[in-house]
Amino acid sequence: MLTQPSSKYRAFPAIALRDRTWPDAQITQAPIWLSTDLRDGNQALIEPMDLARKLRMFDMLVKIGFKEIEVGFPASSQIEFDFVRQLIEGKRIPADVTIQVMTPARPELITRTVEALQGAPRAIVHIYNAVAPVWRKVVFGMSVPEVMALVKDQVTHLKALTDAQPGTKWVLQYSPETFSLAELEVSLEACETAIAAWGPGRDIILNLPTTVENATPNVFADQIEWMVRKFADRPEVVVSVHPHNDRGTGTASAELALMAGAHRVEGCLFGNGERTGNLDIVNVALNMYVQGVSPQLDFSDIDAIRAEVEYCNQLPVPARHPYAGDLVYTSFSGSHQDAIKKAFAARQDADIWAIPYLPIDPKDLGRSYEAVIRVNSQSGKGGISYLLEEAYGLAMPRRLQIEFSQVVQRAMDTAGTEFTAKDLWQIFEREYQLSANHALAQYRVESDDSDEVRISGKLQWAGQPVSIAGQGNGPIDAFVQAVSSAIGIPVRLLDYSEHAVAASDARGDKGANATAAAYIELRVGENQSLYGVGMDSNSTQAAFRAVMSAVARSGAVASVQTAAPQAAAQEATV
Ligand code: KIV
Ligand code: ZN
Repeated sequence: MLTQPSSKYRAFPAIALRDRTWPDAQITQAPIWLSTDLRDGNQALIEPMDLARKLRMFDMLVKIGFKEIEVGFPASSQIEFDFVRQLIEGKRIPADVTIQVMTPARPELITRTVEALQGAPRAIVHIYNAVAPVWRKVVFGMSVPEVMALVKDQVTHLKALTDAQPGTKWVLQYSPETFSLAELEVSLEACETAIAAWGPGRDIILNLPTTVENATPNVFADQIEWMVRKFADRPEVVVSVHPHNDRGTGTASAELALMAGAHRVEGCLFGNGERTGNLDIVNVALNMYVQGVSPQLDFSDIDAIRAEVEYCNQLPVPARHPYAGDLVYTSFSGSHQDAIKKAFAARQDADIWAIPYLPIDPKDLGRSYEAVIRVNSQSGKGGISYLLEEAYGLAMPRRLQIEFSQVVQRAMDTAGTEFTAKDLWQIFEREYQLSANHALAQYRVESDDSDEVRISGKLQWAGQPVSIAGQGNGPIDAFVQAVSSAIGIPVRLLDYSEHAVAASDARGDKGANATAAAYIELRVGENQSLYGVGMDSNSTQAAFRAVMSAVARSGAVASVQTAAPQAAAQEATV
C-alpha cells in the first residue's frame, strides 16, 4: 500500500447542497421495493440460474411480497427470453405484481426485449446507459450531447414499439448508469431527455444507481435530495435508487436516500450482486421493521428464505450476515449472556422489545431462542444456567451458578470445544452426583410441641448402609445434624432453595421423573462451603438428597464409611 494514497486516489467532492433536509428526516413508511435478484443478482453468479431455479426464485419473491420484480435481460440469451415468456404464457405473474426487464440502449436489443413482453398485462422496460466522465471519455468516446442523443433515440424507439402494443400497460425505467460518479447536471439532463422522449406526463421511473460506490453515504443522500427536488411537482416520476456495496455502505446509502426523498429501492436478497453485491433488501427492510415500520415484505421464515436463495444462487449466506446468518442471534460472551438472561426474566409479553444484544426478536423471523446463548470458553454463569434452565428446567441459585460455572470452565479447558445444553447437563449430573447410589432406604420424622424435629433412619450412601439419627428445627436441619454426627464432622446449613421441575422440560433420563429440584449449600468442617443438588418426586427427599450430594462432594463420604458402624450403634439406642 502507498504511504501517500492521495498520489493515486482522490476523494469524491462534496455536493453543494447547504440547505439539505435529509439529516432530520425519518423513514416512516416502506418504499416501493424492486427485487433485481433475477437480473443484477443473476448476472453476478458463478453459474447463472437455470429456468427451474429462476422460477423458484420468482415464486419466492412473490411470496415475500415484492410487487415489482426485475426478471431478467431477455435480449441477452435464449434462456432469459424463454423465462420471460414462461412467466407470461404460464400466467405466473399475480395481478398485483409487475415484471421489469432490462435492455441496453441499443435498437435491436430494445426490439427483442419488447418482443419478449408480448401479452404481459403490465411491464416496466428498463433502459440504461452510462453517464459518468470516465465512461463517456474512455469507454464509449462520447460527448455529453452524443449521450443525450443516444437517450433520446433509444427511448423514442421504445415508445414506438410499445405504442404498437396497447394491450400492455407500459412504464419506462430510465437509469443514468454510474449516476453517483457523474456530474448532477449531466444525470439530470439525461433523465429530462428520457422523460421528454417517453412523453411528458407518462409514468416513468428514474433509477439512480451507485453503480460503483465511490463516496460516503451522505454524499449519495445529497445527490438524491438534489434530484428529488427537480421532480417534486411531477407525480408521474418515481425516483428510485439502486445502491451497490463496494464500500460496505449499500444499506446506509439506501437508508439516507430514502430520508432524502427516494420513493423506490432496488436490491437483492442478502446483498447478492456484482463484486461486493447489490443493496441487501432484507437488511434495509428489517432495519425498518425494528424501528416499528412495516416493510411490507414478509421474512417470517428467514431460514427457509435463506436456504432457497442459497439454493438458487449456489452461494452461501455467511454466519455473520445481518438478521439471517447462523450466529447473529448468538451470544458467547458471559456478560452478554447475563444481560440477556436477566432481560428475558424481566420481560412481560406486551413490553416493547428491549432485550440487550438482540436488536430483533428472533421469533419474528422464525428463529427459536435455542441459539441465543451458546457456551464456550468465553461464556460464564449466565449462559450456563440459561441453557440448563431452558432445556432442563433448573433454576439454580446465584452462588450455585458461580460454583458450577467454575466446574464447567475446568471441563472447557480440557475439551476446548463448545458445550451444548446436553453436555452441560451431563457435567452437572456427574458433578452433583445425581446418579450416584445415594438413597434413603427408610426413615422416620417425628416432631413434638417444642417444634423440635427428630429424624432417624437408614441411608444407602455410596453403596454403604448408614444409620442416622439427629434433631433440628425442621426436617432438613434434623437431617443435616444426623449426617453430621454420622460422619463425625460439623455440618451447617447455609442456604436452601427448591422448585418444581415442569414435566414438559426436556431433561435428561435421570431427571425425567423428578418433580422437585433442591439446592442446598452446606459448610462442611471449618471452611469448606459447597452446594449439593437433589432431585426427587418428593420435595423433602429431594432436599435430603441435596445434603448427601454436598457432603459426598466435600470428600466426607470416606468418613461416612468408617463412621457406619458407630452410626449403626447409635441406631440401636434410638
Ligand atoms: O448498477 C447499475 O448501475 C445497474 C444499472 C443498470 C441500473 O445495474
Ligand atoms: Zn446494478
